[in-house]
Amino acid sequence: MSAKLSLIAAKAKQGLTGRIRVPGDKSMSHRAVMFSSLANGTSEITGLLEGEDVMATLAAFRAMGVQADGPAGGKLTVHGVGMRGLRAPEQDLDMGNSGTAMRLITGILAAQNFASKLIGDESLSGRPMRRVTVPLSAMGARCATDENGCPPIHIRGVEKLEPIDYKLPMASAQIKSAVLLAGLYASGETSVTEPAPTRDHTERMLKAYGYAVETERLSDEASTIRLSGGGELTATNIDIPADISSAAFFMVAASIVPGSELVLEHVCVNPTRTGIIDVLKAMGADIKLLNPRAVGGEPVADIKVKYVGLKGAVIDPKLVPLAIDEFPVICVAAACAEGHTTVSGAEELRHKESDRISAMVTGLRAIGVEVEERKDGMVVTGGSITGGEVESYHDHRIAMSFAVAGGVADGEIVINEADNVATSFPNFVELAKLAGLDVSD
Ligand code: S3P
Repeated sequence: MSAKLSLIAAKAKQGLTGRIRVPGDKSMSHRAVMFSSLANGTSEITGLLEGEDVMATLAAFRAMGVQADGPAGGKLTVHGVGMRGLRAPEQDLDMGNSGTAMRLITGILAAQNFASKLIGDESLSGRPMRRVTVPLSAMGARCATDENGCPPIHIRGVEKLEPIDYKLPMASAQIKSAVLLAGLYASGETSVTEPAPTRDHTERMLKAYGYAVETERLSDEASTIRLSGGGELTATNIDIPADISSAAFFMVAASIVPGSELVLEHVCVNPTRTGIIDVLKAMGADIKLLNPRAVGGEPVADIKVKYVGLKGAVIDPKLVPLAIDEFPVICVAAACAEGHTTVSGAEELRHKESDRISAMVTGLRAIGVEVEERKDGMVVTGGSITGGEVESYHDHRIAMSFAVAGGVADGEIVINEADNVATSFPNFVELAKLAGLDVSD
């Protein structure tokens, strides 16, 4: 996509219907590339998300000597080099827009016997990285951010890492994963305690590659995850289901465009990711999970969404980590719901690809929606959407959320700086059209 892409979204002429499959899960795709690279043997990945973020991860491992064939049609064959087989990259490793790539790879590189430097685009260069360099340094890693705690991250090789018992200061799967991945190289048992459930793809996928990982539930909310360093990963074949975070745009679109009845096929419905379904159901949405099954250690289902008018709701802050990436589009659902919707406990949204609270408040106001901004969320008053011009701040999820809003807007919505849609959902416009939205670039 060109650097200055704008999207134009207009009212859908009829409801969204049919069956679509959105691209592969981004979190799982990153991890599959990383673990296949570090495994002994050849792994075959199918359903890989071929978005820019995952391609940044793949390019980084290629730059460190990993051979991989593809990707083509979601298939990638990775010839693993083993836990100690990576080579020093000749250049800085460019993580593009991807916080997941940068934070998880920092955990891996902290334990390599070579120096490396991780850089990113303008958005990533403003995101907080001390949340990973602090625990990694406590394990003996030598890694540093710039003076503001942001990228680039400079990493110097160390002989050995010490294990750590780390209590996450916030519910973040990226920090948990960075510490656990460094823990693979530590001499002893590393544990991470999370205050609330966060996506557990690292734990599940490490097990799929033959690595022992234990999770102990401490309460309804908190858990401790443990693993011992010094083991090996064994190559395997991984089939990656569709990304619920991408499906979410269509779940909301079908819930707000009258006459919709849409099936989203083969979606990962891991319970640490399904907060969007709980939020939409709390707003009265008609969502059903069909054909539940297990694929590669993850629960998968087809999701059927039928239009019903939504009602405003007070969103339970406990759902925030379970729907962390879906809040931009939840705000759009709220703008179309009857009454007020309150989002709280969501300050982390300010540290994503953009400040998602501020980006959504500004954009919703620009298209005629009444919103009150709060430090940790917002209150949205449902009503009609007029249309107008919004900025996406180079944030893929902000751009796609406003494209969904266009489906019920009285006038067109022009969405500027939508180039980064390609980071997570390269064929968004095509699939949106196929489902019945009127979006063009
Ligand atoms: C991700 C974790 C989440 C999420 C991100 C992907 C992951 O971040 O926002 O898009 O793959 O681990 P945090 O867990 O740090 O909030």
